[in-house]
Amino acid sequence: MCGITGYVGCRQATPLLINALKKLEYRGYDSAGIAVLDAGEITVRKAKGMLKVLEQRLAGETLSGTVGIGHTRWATHGEPSDGNAHPHTNVSGTIAVVHNGIIENYARLKDWLAERGAAFRSQTDTEVIAHLINYYYKGDLLHAVLQALRRLEGSYALGVLCRDFPDRLVAVRKDSPLVVGKGQDETFIASDVPALLEHTREVYYPDDGEIAVLYRDRVDFFAGEGEKVSRATQRVEWDVGAAEKGGYAHFMLKEIHEQPKALADTLRPHIAGTDGHKDIFFEELCLDDFKTAGRIVIVACGTAWHAGIVAKYAFEHFARLPVEADVASEYRYRSPVSRPADLFIAVSQSGETADTLAAARLAKRSAAKVLAVTNVVGSTLAREADRVVYTRAGPEIAVASTKAFTTQLMCLYLLALKAGQLRGTVSADDYQAYIAELEAIPAKAETALKAKESLQKCAARHFNKAKVFFMGRQFDYAASLECALKLKEISYTHSEAFAAGELKHGPIALVDERTLAVTLATQRGLFDKIASNVAELKSRGAAALIITQDAGGYFAQCGDETVVIPDVRDAFSPLLSVIPAQLFAYYCAVQRGNDPDKPRNLAKSVTVE
Ligand code: G6P
Repeated sequence: MCGITGYVGCRQATPLLINALKKLEYRGYDSAGIAVLDAGEITVRKAKGMLKVLEQRLAGETLSGTVGIGHTRWATHGEPSDGNAHPHTNVSGTIAVVHNGIIENYARLKDWLAERGAAFRSQTDTEVIAHLINYYYKGDLLHAVLQALRRLEGSYALGVLCRDFPDRLVAVRKDSPLVVGKGQDETFIASDVPALLEHTREVYYPDDGEIAVLYRDRVDFFAGEGEKVSRATQRVEWDVGAAEKGGYAHFMLKEIHEQPKALADTLRPHIAGTDGHKDIFFEELCLDDFKTAGRIVIVACGTAWHAGIVAKYAFEHFARLPVEADVASEYRYRSPVSRPADLFIAVSQSGETADTLAAARLAKRSAAKVLAVTNVVGSTLAREADRVVYTRAGPEIAVASTKAFTTQLMCLYLLALKAGQLRGTVSADDYQAYIAELEAIPAKAETALKAKESLQKCAARHFNKAKVFFMGRQFDYAASLECALKLKEISYTHSEAFAAGELKHGPIALVDERTLAVTLATQRGLFDKIASNVAELKSRGAAALIITQDAGGYFAQCGDETVVIPDVRDAFSPLLSVIPAQLFAYYCAVQRGNDPDKPRNLAKSVTVE
């Protein structure tokens, strides 16, 4: 979590740093700070609260300097406060550091440094880094950073300024994301690409453990022992507008509306051929993996895990392959049984989630092939996996994931269908029909968005419910998990998802007149069963909202309110049924006065455990 940025160039650093932090604020927003180097002095300004508090503090002064670093924080060690905000400095203020990650051995280092005269002013783990670099600094900054790194355990992306070197900034990464940008006579660092897009599309992705020394006109890279390495820039294809709100009130609303395009962009590169003779292609994959796989293991966190659960149903349905879909933090700490014929799929929007990376590394050690499904080119997961399939959602800024989820589903459905074709479990005719159905999904997603106004009204009626339960069967159950997560993340309403068949095994005890029961009803063979479940909830006082593709009216009398999504095959329904739930969650959050883009206590990218 946390976002870091840095600048070396000819322009004034302060506004550039603030602007970059705005793009990174989704990573953490309990405090923010900058340090600017000018005329042999480092000036630090920081403030508890959202970035705008820091901006207000800076409003009355001119902080000049063309070299600087910035930070937006999601607290791990030490409460959110001015003092715990980054940057942190050594005692004399000649070295300043911003950090994303966790220093696991910071307590021991703190004692060690205190015995040697360092006076600590914060409760953070990060402050030890500034004191440690200071301890080793004898006039050679790179050497001091290298020495300090040898003592650090944990994860970090760092930006370091030193008063004695007003022309440069040192950056390092280990198990935390860092992008280095190269502009015209200026260079940048950031935790994520959107912070750089306004200035450059030429970026370097340093390897783990690598150090970058940024000057105005060049960046030098060094490996862990200090030996110089060469790196080439890569061009980022995302467009600049993708990281702006573009007239929408919030990024989340914009990203919900971007789904038709994101779905089409994700699908297009994988389909070729003429009507009736189409095929799914994955040039980046060895498709034999799917022919020979004995089992698929999917590992992910949060929303991406829910995509994995939908994928479990899809692979079983289309390819008759057994699938395990596990939470990455559980997978990595239990004793997972891996088999030689396992195909391991790690799903992650950011490609930087600590638990997902750890699980993928564990799988690689057991010789399984790791396939990554991720949205971020150059991310750690993309670089470490054996094979990568990219979702083409574009940058997702809102903390609560929307377009990343549906594009993950699109990728996973394509993989499941292709596996079905290769394994002979999907007939040629069905294969064509399924491809046609997936091609129709972007337009259907556009139609699903039209329920926006009725969902806004629905949210106005229900935003104050004490509890909201989502339920469904089969694919609807998998989708319900994501619907419930959306609502709890941004509206702070207690919401849970249940497999409808489990209702009588416990959850029904929680139902009363303060409950809203949202039922996903898209699995045609199970309409009768789900209708009975709705009746059971209503008779216990719950208000009932039904999301269904059945326009024929089967559910018209069943619920208090019905949201109809476009007609879709049962197996693909999560691609559409989640859209009304995203809108409902969004409008509930707005009704409750929450900022849907920056929900309390959450961060978009959980790069620490
Ligand atoms: C955090 C975010 C979620 C996201 C999860 C996994 O919890 O708030 O929106 O689904 O991390 O992130 P990833 O980048 O691995 O998909």
